Amino acid sequence: MQTPPIPENSKKTIININGEICKPEDAKISVFDRGFLFGDSVYEVAKTYQGIPFLLQEHLDRLWKSASRLEMLLTVSQNDVSAEVNKALAELGVEEAYFRIILTRGEGPISLDPGEGVKNNLIIIAQEHLPFPSSWYENGVHVVITNVVRVSKESVDPNVKSGNYLNNVMAFMQAKREKAFDSIMLNHKGHVTQGTTSNVWIVKDNTIKTPPLQAGILEGITRKTLLQLAKSDDSLKIEQVNFTAEELINADECFLTSTMKEIVPVTQIDNSPIGTGTVGPLTVKLHSLYSDFVKRTVEGL
Ligand code: PDD
Repeated sequence: MQTPPIPENSKKTIININGEICKPEDAKISVFDRGFLFGDSVYEVAKTYQGIPFLLQEHLDRLWKSASRLEMLLTVSQNDVSAEVNKALAELGVEEAYFRIILTRGEGPISLDPGEGVKNNLIIIAQEHLPFPSSWYENGVHVVITNVVRVSKESVDPNVKSGNYLNNVMAFMQAKREKAFDSIMLNHKGHVTQGTTSNVWIVKDNTIKTPPLQAGILEGITRKTLLQLAKSDDSLKIEQVNFTAEELINADECFLTSTMKEIVPVTQIDNSPIGTGTVGPLTVKLHSLYSDFVKRTVEGL
C-alpha cells in the first residue's frame, strides 16, 4: 500500500556539530558521549515551510522542558541553538527541510553519574524534505494496536522527548512486521496513548477526542496547535479524554498528528475499517484548519 521510502543518502543533508558545518560522512561524535552510551540526550524534530522554520520557539521551549525534567544542565542558550539551526538551514538551502536538534548531556567517563562540568554536544541534522505519498492523505493508513506497553509517566515520562526511544522502536517494529503504517500504544491501564512518533485522535458522534497528558504521552506541538485551533471554532467539540482500544476501533474517524506528517487519516485498525473505511469529514476539516494556520504563520513572519 505504501510507497517505499526514499533512501536517506539520496536526500541533501547538512550536519552542524557544535557550530561546525560538515557533510554527513564527516560528522563524528565521541563514543564517550552520553547520548551514545545511555540515550542521555534530548531532541526535537521540526520543519521549514518556504524556508522558514515553523514554530521554532515552541520546539526550543519543549527541548528546554525535556532537559529540565532530566536535570540536564545546559551549556548553550536558546539563542545559540536557534543561530546554529539557521546556519545549518542556510547551508542546506532548500525550501522544505526536516531538521533535528539533538542536545546530549555531553561526554564523560563511562558512568551513570554525569559528574560536574559536562559540556553538551549540540548536533543539528538538516535534510531536504520530500513530500510524503499523497495516498496517506487521500486513502488513509492502516495501524495496529501493539502489545508493547507505553512506558508509564512514573518511569521516564513520555512527555520528555529524550534520545531513548526504544519503547517506540519496539512498537514500530511490530507495525513493520504486520506491514502497517504505525502502531498505537496502550498504557498499563489499557488506555490508548499515541502512535510511535505521533499523537492519536478519534471522532465519535461528532466529538473529537485525544488522550490527556496523564495517559502518558508526548505533548505534541501539532496536538497543541490543533487543540487551540479547534477551540476557536464553535462548530467543533473537542475533548482530552481517555479511551480504550475498543473505543478506538469503534470510532467514526481516527487520525495521527505530528510536525512532519501533519494530519494523517487512519482508515483501518488491525483488521477493522474505521467508520466507513474512508477519510472522514472532520479529519479533512481539521487538516484544512491546520494548513490555513501554517500559511498564516509563515506569511506573517
Ligand atoms: N516526533 N509523540 C512522539 C513520541 C513523537 O516523537 C512525536 C514527534 C509526536 C508528535 O509531536 P509533534 O506534533 O510535536 O511533532 C508525538 C517527531 C516528528 C520525530 O521524532 O520524528
